[in-house]
Amino acid sequence: MVINSPRGTADIFGDDIICRNLIIEQAKKLFKLFNYSQIITPAFEHTEVFDRGIGQSTDIVKKEMYTFLDRKGRSLTLRPEGTAPVVRAIIEHKLYSKIPVKLFYIGNMFRYERPQKGRMREFWQLGVEAAGVDNPVIDAEVIWLLALIFETLGFKKLKLLVNSVGCADCRPPYINIFKGYIKPHLESLCSDCRERYDTNPLRIFDCKVPSCAKIISSSPKIYSNICSSCAKHFNTVTDLLKALNIPFVIKEELVRGFDYYTRTIFEIISEDLESVQNALGGGGRYDKLIEQFGGPPLPSIGFAVGIDRTIVLMKQLSVSLSKEDSQSNVFVILLERRFEKYGLEFLNYLRKCDIRSDISFEIKKVGAQIKLAKKNEFTHAAVIGEDEATSGNITVKKLADFTQNQFNWKKDPHKIYDILK
Ligand code: HAM
Repeated sequence: MVINSPRGTADIFGDDIICRNLIIEQAKKLFKLFNYSQIITPAFEHTEVFDRGIGQSTDIVKKEMYTFLDRKGRSLTLRPEGTAPVVRAIIEHKLYSKIPVKLFYIGNMFRYERPQKGRMREFWQLGVEAAGVDNPVIDAEVIWLLALIFETLGFKKLKLLVNSVGCADCRPPYINIFKGYIKPHLESLCSDCRERYDTNPLRIFDCKVPSCAKIISSSPKIYSNICSSCAKHFNTVTDLLKALNIPFVIKEELVRGFDYYTRTIFEIISEDLESVQNALGGGGRYDKLIEQFGGPPLPSIGFAVGIDRTIVLMKQLSVSLSKEDSQSNVFVILLERRFEKYGLEFLNYLRKCDIRSDISFEIKKVGAQIKLAKKNEFTHAAVIGEDEATSGNITVKKLADFTQNQFNWKKDPHKIYDILK
């Protein structure tokens, strides 16, 4: 019986790997420019990290975590996101001796969700967390970095949504106002939203059920109910985004699914992604989280980009990929088995010259070997027989037009670069 990968997981190879490497390479360049250094945290944590970090009434903690007991009965969870683990690490290693702490990460995340295109149970994120700064300048800088990641990939029809979810002073009174508005409509909400009304009312804003969305559309929004200091903070963020020429839309319904957020939150969506899974990345401020974890008061902000969704969009938009395969490369064809040792020496020379190369493992007719070389997208082939092995004179054929050049690789080792040009 054939065994497939588990539902919601994927093997990544071929064009997907080329896209993925490009996304990661571009992002890493930007992280360096913006002065972030890398952190790698474990793929699983004590369950408490997420219970406390993300919030027990969130969908992620309630329904989506891969939680298991290890052999000693300890509860562990495969990370569903990267922020809570980074916060745990910042406190554990006291990484806050220099402020701001600017960290980036790339890793796989796990959420038990209903899989569909762009929504996986194991997926990859790259993200940043900047801890220790309250100043809205860092909000603008973090959003700028997120926007640049997609700009460098050549994406056009993107929308940056921003909102403020207020702070511990202004959110509770707003929630009372909101619940007061919802109460008479409770019976018309879906069963999930009726439960959210008691456990996490703001999540009602994320409901896709049309009857819920209709009720929400005329509800009071948090944006108009934040306190004056949150409003001042948010206005500065939007002013700075304007100064940086970063187009954005204030989306008053935006809430995002984590309890840790305070003040600025944001999301980048693509109008090109056909599915409802159109958020390519998102993030926000979490001013109290580090304190709640037992660390010092360090107001923080970060974002994460969904690598898998970004790959879907790159392929959909046919973003031109600078394939490694477009560079010249050589397939070494042996006429007889006895030239294997010589063939390997020649291969060793090519690889030392940084030229992608491979050798035929089967001895077949030259025509069949050339076909094989073309199928494997080699640009050139070198045939080794008696003459070549004794003289060192190798003929390199260009497979596109069968023009050929001869050179002595031992006497004139640099000539290969001219031949492959
Ligand atoms: P998030 O919005 O849950 O935020 O995830 C960020 C991005 O990860 C999403 O915009 C999406 O592209 C991708 N993503 C999420 N779930 C899936 C999935 N099931 N399959 C494929 N891609 C997915 C966070 O995770 C926060 N930790 C971001 C953050 C960092 N906030 C502050 N700092």
